[in-house]
Amino acid sequence: MCGIIGYSGHRPAVPLVLEGLEHLEYRGYDSAGVGYDLNNELMVVRAKGKLKNLSEKFQGERNALTVTCAIGHTRWATHGAPEERNAHPHLSNSKRLAIVHNGIIENYLEIREELSQKGYHFASDTDSEVLINLIEDMLSQECDLLHALAAALKKAHGAYAICVLDREDPQRLYAARLAAPLIFGQGIGENFIASDIPAFLAYTRDVVFLEDGDILVADSDSYQLWKSSDLTPIQRPVQQIQWSMQAAQKGGYRHFMLKEIFEQPKVISDALSGRFEGSRVLLSELDALPVPKRLHIIACGTSFHAGLWGQHLLEDWARIPVQVEIASEFRYKERLLLNPDQDIVLVISQSGETADTLAALRMANEIGVPTLGLCNVLGSSVAREAGAVLYTQAGPEISVASTKAMTSQMIMLACLALYYGYRSGNLGVDECLQNIDRLQRLPLMLETALPEMHSTARLLARKFSQSKSFFYLGRGHCFSLALEGALKLKELSYIHAEGYAAGEMKHGPIALIDPTFPTFVLAPHDVLYEKIKSNIVEIQSRQGQIIVLTDAESDLHGVDIWRIPSLEGPLGAFLILPCLQLFSYEVADYLGKDVDQPRNLAKSVTVE
Ligand code: F6R
Repeated sequence: MCGIIGYSGHRPAVPLVLEGLEHLEYRGYDSAGVGYDLNNELMVVRAKGKLKNLSEKFQGERNALTVTCAIGHTRWATHGAPEERNAHPHLSNSKRLAIVHNGIIENYLEIREELSQKGYHFASDTDSEVLINLIEDMLSQECDLLHALAAALKKAHGAYAICVLDREDPQRLYAARLAAPLIFGQGIGENFIASDIPAFLAYTRDVVFLEDGDILVADSDSYQLWKSSDLTPIQRPVQQIQWSMQAAQKGGYRHFMLKEIFEQPKVISDALSGRFEGSRVLLSELDALPVPKRLHIIACGTSFHAGLWGQHLLEDWARIPVQVEIASEFRYKERLLLNPDQDIVLVISQSGETADTLAALRMANEIGVPTLGLCNVLGSSVAREAGAVLYTQAGPEISVASTKAMTSQMIMLACLALYYGYRSGNLGVDECLQNIDRLQRLPLMLETALPEMHSTARLLARKFSQSKSFFYLGRGHCFSLALEGALKLKELSYIHAEGYAAGEMKHGPIALIDPTFPTFVLAPHDVLYEKIKSNIVEIQSRQGQIIVLTDAESDLHGVDIWRIPSLEGPLGAFLILPCLQLFSYEVADYLGKDVDQPRNLAKSVTVE
């Protein structure tokens, strides 16, 4: 949560930082701010609400254009309401230092109390203002800011990615990370530091991923990394980022979400690329690990739904018992029934930074169970800490609501099921070949179907956007999609929606059905088709409105039958999921909601 950026170079720093913040806004958007030195005075300009409110404050502001070093922040409130006084940067009491901070300092109240007794005062409710004053306090005891920073970070417990500016040395950036992402971008005569790569991708592709416990000091021409525990200098490799800047732009679409939905055919082919050799699935990342006797999939939100979907394939194709758990539940279990000799823990996370998922991964690592990370973000914490990593290669997902990332996770789970199925001998060559062929046909099928799906979604959205509540029903692998459909609708349009296993309806929820309560039924023509037809009849006989998403094979007729191409078995999910995404997108857009940045949300949930 929260996005930070720092720049030191030769360009006007304030516009560059504002531009960088636009690419980080997905991380939090309740307030934003920029800090820089002007004639030996640290200036802090902050605004409540979206970034445009901050940008407006710079209109006609010429002085700010002369500075070539600045820091910026876009906030998702943790400590303190989303008010201007709680927005970052925060100044130290003497106004010598300014900080932008992403994360939480857990013992900030204790430190605040100590500092208050020494005469420090605080203008905000934030832990970040406490941290910058702690650094200032240390500065009075240490020889320089680097040592003061290290000493303060020893005292502060929690998670942080910070960037600090010093009035006495205003072209230099001081940064540090612990359990929150921070990436250094190396340019020519300019250097960057940010929570995520798109913030500076227009200027450089050469990056260094900071690790937990790193401190970085950079000016426009040089940088140095230190271990914060003892200030020994360290080296980290410079890596080249392959994405294009276009991947982080809207490319003519009204919203990132729509662009990302339409990118899914390419996302599927990218994820599959180089993964097959005849009937074999190539996941060399896993060759050193045994086939597990039991797989534990752990994730949050949409990634959890992808895990639930993957469970079907892994149990069906690979015959591996799978337990899928929500990370925030798993991490607080008193007894973890994990067997290091037989089990594998698979964590799924688009961002690779989700606090609960990361905590679950660390617990599994501690117990000594082999761990596997399925994630999208190169160099993220999950990628670094899991025993083995499968990258989903979906490219940057900017829209806060996850779409293409889920599809890419499902593709990799399908590959995993084939891989384990083949390795364990549970899938024959013919079955493997048949499923590989189906997977490879997906991109074209989806690409062809998307325009019509979009038109139908638009029509249905007009009709149903005034509803107050929705059910989403599915059976088998479609149950996980029903959960995801409901999540997408509520997070984007703020319409209450619940996903249910269709067979559960008569155990209580059906009591809610009346002519104003619509149900979105997922009814592909598969082995459970007749069963779901009975559920449809039960709802119709209670005058409930229904949207039925089905395929060309089905014999259902009625008003809101949404027919898509048929695709046998669970791989049909790759055509069903985009319909659910498009429907939610269209409802939210029709209602005038902020599709890419829904209220109260942030893209990467790095706090509990
Ligand atoms: C919903 C959504 C969230 C995330 C969840 C986990 O659209 O995006 O539910 O899926 O916060 O995030 P990751 O996958 O980054 O761990």
